[in-house]
Amino acid sequence: MTRVALLGATGSIGRQAVEVIDAHPELELVAAASHSMPIDGLAPLTQTGGDLTALLERAEPDVVLNAVVGFAGLAPTMWALERGVTLALANKESLVAAGELALAARARGGGSLVPVDSEHSALFQCARLGEPESLVLTASGGPFRGRTRDELHDVTAEEALAHPTWSMGPKITIDSATLANKGLEVIEAHFLFGVPYDRIEVVVHPTSIVHGLVRFRDGASIAHLGYPDMRVPISYALTFPERAPTPVPPLRLETLEFHEPDEETFRMLPLAREAGERGGTLPCAYNAANEVAVQQFLEGRIGFLDIPALVEDVLARVDGSPARDLDELVEADRRARELVPVA
Ligand SMILES: NC(=O)c1ccc[n+]([C@@H]2O[C@H](COP(=O)([O-])OP(=O)(O)OC[C@H]3O[C@@H](n4cnc5c(N)ncnc54)[C@H](OP(=O)(O)O)[C@@H]3O)[C@@H](O)[C@H]2O)c1
Repeated sequence: MTRVALLGATGSIGRQAVEVIDAHPELELVAAASHSMPIDGLAPLTQTGGDLTALLERAEPDVVLNAVVGFAGLAPTMWALERGVTLALANKESLVAAGELALAARARGGGSLVPVDSEHSALFQCARLGEPESLVLTASGGPFRGRTRDELHDVTAEEALAHPTWSMGPKITIDSATLANKGLEVIEAHFLFGVPYDRIEVVVHPTSIVHGLVRFRDGASIAHLGYPDMRVPISYALTFPERAPTPVPPLRLETLEFHEPDEETFRMLPLAREAGERGGTLPCAYNAANEVAVQQFLEGRIGFLDIPALVEDVLARVDGSPARDLDELVEADRRARELVPVA
C-alpha cells in the first residue's frame, strides 16, 4: 500500500486525485487538507486551514501530493523534499519560487520529485529515455489565442475563465489566458530537468494532445501524447514507476497544429523567461506579483493587460538577490507582493 497525503484536496487537482486514489486499491489516502472548504471524513486525518507540515508529520505518508494553489504550497514541498518523501508536485509555484533551495533540499533528502503538471509529467516520462538536449513545452494558447493587445483591453474575468481545453481552478485558468502559466512552466522545467532557458521552447498547440517533447543529442525526439485529462499525470505520479489503468479513452491520431506564441501580446511568457534567466529571487517575485495581480483581476479591480504591466513593474523594482534560506525567500515573496499597488 502507498500512503498518500493530499494537500489541496478540495481543488480541481485534489478532487481528481481523490477519484484516482479511489480507483486504485494499492493507494491509501491517509491525510487530506483544504484551506477553507470542509473535508471531514475524506481520510483518517483531515485538516482545514492550519499548518500543513504538522499534518504531514502526523500522517507519515509515502507520497505527498501537493495540489495547493500558489506560494502557500512552499512549506509542504520543502517538507517532502528534505525528508526524501516522494513529492507528486502539482503546486508549480513552490518550485518556481524556491528554485535552487528546493533542489538542494531534494539532494539532501534523496527522494523522488514527480511532476503532476501535464507538460512536465510528459517531459519527465520522455527524459527517462536519455539526457535531454532541449525541451519543447506545448501551450493551448488559452481562450484569447489569436487576439491582439487592443482586443484584450476590456476582457472580463468570466471570459478569461472559459478555457478551451482544460477545466481547472481559477488562478491557473487566468494564468493560462495570460500565458503566465507557460512562463511558470518554463521556469519549472528549468529546475526539474536542469536544461538552460535558451533550450526550453514553447509552442502553441491548440488541442493540447502533445504535452511535451524532449530532443536528444543523437537527433531523436520523443513526444508524449494523450487527451487533456489530469487524471493521467496524477495517476502516473501516484503510481510511479508503475502505470495504472485510468478511464481515459485510447488516443486516436488526428491532425496536429503548432504555432509560435505571440510574445508581444502575451507578455507574461517573455517576462518569466527573463526572470528565470536573471535568476536569484526574480522567479519568486514574478510569481508573487502575478498571484496578487490575478487575484485583483478576478475581483474585477484591474484589467487583463494590467497583470503583465504590474508584474513587469515589480520585476524592475526588486533587487532579485538570491535567498540563502527559506526565511529570505518568504521575505522576497512578501516584498514583491507589497510592491503591487492596491487597486
Ligand atoms: N487544475 C489543473 O488542471 C492543474 C493542472 C496543472 C497544474 N495545476 C496546479 O495545481 C495547483 C492546484 O490547482 P487547482 O486548479 O487544483 O486549484 P484550485 O481548484 O483553486 O484548488 C486549490 C486548492 O488549494 C487549497 N488552498 C487554497 N489556498 C490555500 C492556502 N493558502 N493554504 C492551503 N491550501 C490552500 C484550496 O482549498 P479550499 O478549497 O478550501 O480553498 C483547494 O483545495 C496549482 O499550483 C496549479 O497551478 C493545476
